[in-house]
Amino acid sequence: NKRVAILISGSGSNMVALAQSMQGDHPARVCLVLSNDTQAGGLVKAQAMGIPTAVVDHRAFKGDRTAFEAELLKPLQAARPDLVALAGFMRVLSADFVAQFEGRMLNIHPSLLPKYKGLNTHARAIEAGDAEAGCTVHEVTAALDDGPILGQARVPILPGDTPERLAARILPLEHQLYPMVLRRVALGEGGLITLP
Ligand code: GAR
Repeated sequence: NKRVAILISGSGSNMVALAQSMQGDHPARVCLVLSNDTQAGGLVKAQAMGIPTAVVDHRAFKGDRTAFEAELLKPLQAARPDLVALAGFMRVLSADFVAQFEGRMLNIHPSLLPKYKGLNTHARAIEAGDAEAGCTVHEVTAALDDGPILGQARVPILPGDTPERLAARILPLEHQLYPMVLRRVALGEGGLITLP
């Protein structure tokens, strides 16, 4: 089985979807849930599932990203992951950090990349008058939200949509898409997964 470390910053709903998918004859298992925030709701959820957790609080490093990443690397390397899945991990990772996991780090981003890298994706899609929005799973490279796209799910933007309503419609698709892509990557298969 492949070992998968999942990095979170918040509620961890994508982490739960990934962890629940990695059971039975699945080719991967979660080896660690790692957060940059002691208050991340996902930590409690991981513990309830019996998954090892670790926290490296970025605030303790006062903006020194090199020092933060050096500390983040310790529990991550100790877990010996084959794959690293960013799931609502809200810190930008340096090129040096990403290089340690080249070709084996994934991210889920709440937009139809290459549109709307960065933050406030749903508000920007609505503001632009786009007909649709969605989410993307991609390989992580040094450039933010920019690596090869492995999967995408799309939904129409409806009249009267708010960022919150759109997010609520897209999140369940994230929970479908991310496990599908992770499974394929764990099997060493390529290709693009699209939903619906
Ligand atoms: C998800 O919508 C994910 O796509 C987004 O944060 C949310 C995390 O929710 N990720 C980013 O914005 C990455 N820049 P979760 O903690 O419940 O999985």
